[in-house]
Amino acid sequence: MRIILLGAPGAGKGTQCKNIVVQYGLLHLSSGDILRQERAQGTELGQKAQSYMDSGGLVPDEIIIEMMTKAIKGAPAAGFLLDGFPRTVNQAVELDKSLADNEMMIDFVLNLQVNDDVVAKRITGRRSCPECGAVYHIEHLKPKAEGICDNDGIELVQRPDDTPDVVANRLKTYHQQTEPLVDYYRKNGTVYDLDADRAPDEVRDLIFEKMDALVRT
Ligand code: AP5
Repeated sequence: MRIILLGAPGAGKGTQCKNIVVQYGLLHLSSGDILRQERAQGTELGQKAQSYMDSGGLVPDEIIIEMMTKAIKGAPAAGFLLDGFPRTVNQAVELDKSLADNEMMIDFVLNLQVNDDVVAKRITGRRSCPECGAVYHIEHLKPKAEGICDNDGIELVQRPDDTPDVVANRLKTYHQQTEPLVDYYRKNGTVYDLDADRAPDEVRDLIFEKMDALVRT
C-alpha cells in the first residue's frame, strides 16, 4: 500500500502514522522528521532548511522532492506512508511522475480534518523526546512523570517551531499551499476525509476501520 496522510500542522499525522505502521507494516516517511534529523546532524541540507522551518514557511520544492524521492526508493514491498509530503501541488505532480517511472501510484489519501483552534492548542502543548522522538501532550497525552520521556528518562523539549507566532504562520502556509492538494487528489485519486477532532484512540479506530475495508476490497 502507498498512502498519503494529509492534514494541517498538529492534526495528528505523526501520532496516527505510528499506529498505522505498527498495524500494517508500512514504512513511515515523514519529511519533517527527516529534515529535523538532517538539522541535528548539521548537514548542508539541514542548514539550508533551518530558516524556512523556524519561520513556519516551506522548504523549497527542489530540496524536498529530491530528499523524499530518494527516501521512497528505499521503501519495502509492503509499501509506505507519507507524512508531511507532498505539501504543494508541484511536489504532488513530481511525486506522481517519479512513482509512474517506477510503475507505481498512490493508492489513497487519508485527510485528517480538524479546525485551526484545536490544532493550535495541540501544537503549543506538544512535547517531544530529543532522543527517541516520542511525542506527548501536556494535557492529552501525558508522560508518566511530568516532562520526562517514558521510554528513556530524557527531559522532554518543545519544538522550536511550536511557538504561537510560528504556529500561526504554519497554519497560514498550510491553507495557502497545502490545502489545495486535497482537490488535486480528489481529481486524480481517492481521498477519504476523517474527523480528527476526537480522542487519539478514536481517530486511530476510524483510520483502521477505513483501511481494513480497503484492504478487503
Ligand atoms: P512537519 O514536521 O511535517 O510538521 P507539521 O505538518 O506542521 O505537522 P506536525 O508535526 O506539527 O503535526 P502532526 O500532524 O504530525 O501532529 P502530531 O501527531 O505531532 O514539518 C515541519 C516543517 O518542516 C514545516 O513547517 C516546513 O518548514 C518543513 N517541511 C516539512 N515537510 C515539508 C515539505 N514537504 N515541503 C516543504 N517544507 C516541509 O500531534 C500534535 C500534538 O497533538 C501532539 O502533542 C499530540 O500528542 C497531540 N495529539 C495528536 N492527536 C491528538 C488528538 N486526536 N487529540 C488530542 N491531542 C492530539
